[in-house]
Amino acid sequence: MSHPQVLFARRRPGQTVSLETYLQEGGYQALGGAVGKQAPAALRKLVLDSGLRGRGGAGFPTGQKWSFFPADAPGPKYLVCNCDEMEPGTYKDRELLVADPHALVEGMALAAYALGVTHGYVFVRYDYEDVFRALERAVAEAHGAGFLGERILGTDFGFELHVHGSAGRYILGEETSLLNGLEGVRPNPRLRPPFPAQRGLFGRPTTVQNVETLCNVPHIALHGAEWFKGLALTPGEAGTKLFGLSGHLNRTECFELPMGVPLREVVEVHGGGVRQGRRFKACLPGGASTPYLTAAHLDVPMDFGNLDRAGSRLGTAGVTVFDERTCMVAATLNLLTFFARESCGWCTPCRDGLPYVCYLLERFERGQAGREELALLKAQPAFINQSFCALAQGAMGPLEGLLRHFEQELLDHVTRGGCPFGGA
Ligand SMILES: Cc1cc2nc3c(=O)[nH]c(=O)nc-3n(C[C@H](O)[C@H](O)[C@H](O)COP(=O)(O)O)c2cc1C
Repeated sequence: MSHPQVLFARRRPGQTVSLETYLQEGGYQALGGAVGKQAPAALRKLVLDSGLRGRGGAGFPTGQKWSFFPADAPGPKYLVCNCDEMEPGTYKDRELLVADPHALVEGMALAAYALGVTHGYVFVRYDYEDVFRALERAVAEAHGAGFLGERILGTDFGFELHVHGSAGRYILGEETSLLNGLEGVRPNPRLRPPFPAQRGLFGRPTTVQNVETLCNVPHIALHGAEWFKGLALTPGEAGTKLFGLSGHLNRTECFELPMGVPLREVVEVHGGGVRQGRRFKACLPGGASTPYLTAAHLDVPMDFGNLDRAGSRLGTAGVTVFDERTCMVAATLNLLTFFARESCGWCTPCRDGLPYVCYLLERFERGQAGREELALLKAQPAFINQSFCALAQGAMGPLEGLLRHFEQELLDHVTRGGCPFGGA
């Protein structure tokens, strides 16, 4: 089943789109049509009307975020693109940037124009050397062709873009920790308010946006808000979505599909079904911080509203599938071990709460847990959800999914005195 390709329209296997190809295929037309011709406020309104929501995990409406930004205030202001992408099961931004890095350069230049920003940073995951190289080359090419730098396309608008490597910890994806990381200080999260739009990088107004979010902006500028909304299959949603598939599927690749595509189509058609003809047991629909869905959810449309109503979240749309032989207690322990390791230690619920959840889950796996441990496990989310930033709250996603859908599996570990799947 094929669907309209927007973000992946220029993608060719094993290739990175050069400036020449990007221009041949309509690239930088959106920038040329906006800079000096369209008022920045009109571009902000267009993004608001398009219904674009952040693709980095939280799904905050981008136009609304831009409406809080003091675009007309004097002095330095910053645009930061978040390409930290360390969430297990999420790799869509890498796929996009290695294929088409100029899409981000153009998206950032347009966003900078809309927001009155003159300096931008792309904050790239430590391990993403291919992304780093592709972006550095694209920035140099765009600079040489007059799409970046001073007096872009002969106008008064100037925008400099810097590519910056992350130090390689998950917390750096959290936007205020990222700003600390960019400033070269300890990357713990910052207290909000003040929000980055008021006091962000170097104390100046800053907007942080995800790679995929920004790459949508040139398409919205070229084709309009109604066109963008029309790409979604479900009412009230907008655009396409990059789905990064992983786990027990026959095809673990990244696909661009319409917002609202049913989970069943993602799994059975694009993912080629569950490996070795086994049954689908569960999935993380939106990266490691989202509650599990089960086979009962296969007809749920994959969009922000429907996944919220199904008790999970669209998150980053990194879909990790688990087959019938998976022990969901062990899978959750594996995820929680990652979150516990990546806690920055700044607040008690995260620093002490996550290792305690791992300890409890390990007791189930080893057959050392009784009903008291189940009660203790159930009590953890209320405490841990009080964490300073969303890292630990995200870690509660799979735990809450486990408790909601697989309580019987926890009890089976108690009655059998260990893992019924032969783990631990
Ligand atoms: C622990 C943690 C890690 C995160 N990692 C990322 C990331 O790698 N990329 C990203 O875009 N957003 C990440 N986020 C969300 C960002 O804080 C922020 O909401 C996002 O970059 C805003 O962009 P958007 O509105 O375009 O989605 C993370 C959040 C948390 C709490």
